[in-house]
Amino acid sequence: MLPERTASLRKFTSSTALKPEEAMVPSRSETPSILIVGASRGLGCALANAFLAKGWSVTGAVRGGGHTPLHDLVDTNDGGLVIERVDMTLADDVEALSNRRSKERFDILFINAGTTNGRPGDTIAEITTDKFTHVMVTNALSPMRVIEGLETLVADDGLIGVMSSGQGSIANNERGGRELYRGSKAALNQFMRSYAARHAGSRRALLLIALYYRGKHPAPPRRDTEET
Ligand SMILES: NC(=O)c1ccc[n+]([C@@H]2O[C@H](COP(=O)([O-])OP(=O)(O)OC[C@H]3O[C@@H](n4cnc5c(N)ncnc54)[C@H](OP(=O)(O)O)[C@@H]3O)[C@@H](O)[C@H]2O)c1
Repeated sequence: MLPERTASLRKFTSSTALKPEEAMVPSRSETPSILIVGASRGLGCALANAFLAKGWSVTGAVRGGGHTPLHDLVDTNDGGLVIERVDMTLADDVEALSNRRSKERFDILFINAGTTNGRPGDTIAEITTDKFTHVMVTNALSPMRVIEGLETLVADDGLIGVMSSGQGSIANNERGGRELYRGSKAALNQFMRSYAARHAGSRRALLLIALYYRGKHPAPPRRDTEET
């Protein structure tokens, strides 16, 4: 039988339709904790807010030095939110974050950060090599490097999660479009499967989140879709 805390986190990873607030209920009295990479705005900031609302201790990592929507949450959460800095494409940043927090064990490490190319209609052959490199390094390579670099900060019975996308599904790609973004998330899924295979004996739960919308899909992610 799983320890109570692990069972709670396994519930969070279940494919059955758990409500997020049900999955995030702390399973023991000491405050559970999550480290979110890419929490400055958008879904990452919303995720931080949701965990704070459930009483979790949240460390949200942003990459820049400026004020972000995540900073607005500090004032309204009495010590529950700590802001960290990391650009996940920079190995030195990831190592520095690991060193700064080496004494801590988070219940959840969640890598939310991601990007896309500005012209979703471009076919893969039309994409510039620089843009291909940028999106693949950000969405596929960097999350895995963050996991490898920060996994020691995660409790043995904790959870490591990554934000993928429904557009990373090979089987569901019947409409085309967003070719580079789709490819980067498909690669991420494959790398996570390889990581899972390498850690088959681990007690840690692994999670890939794919947001799936019925009907019209919103344009992910927001900022870079405005680029030309
Ligand atoms: N929006 C959707 O409908 C949707 C659907 C499926 C999946 N997703 C995925 O969900 C995640 C968040 O999407 P979103 O819509 O919330 O996007 P967003 O508003 O553009 O936010 C992207 C986040 O990633 C961070 N980020 C980007 N590159 C980074 C780097 N190198 N190092 C550290 N942080 C970095 C950004 O930080 P800065 O503020 O510094 O730029 C920001 O916090 C992405 O992985 C996306 O692919 C989104």
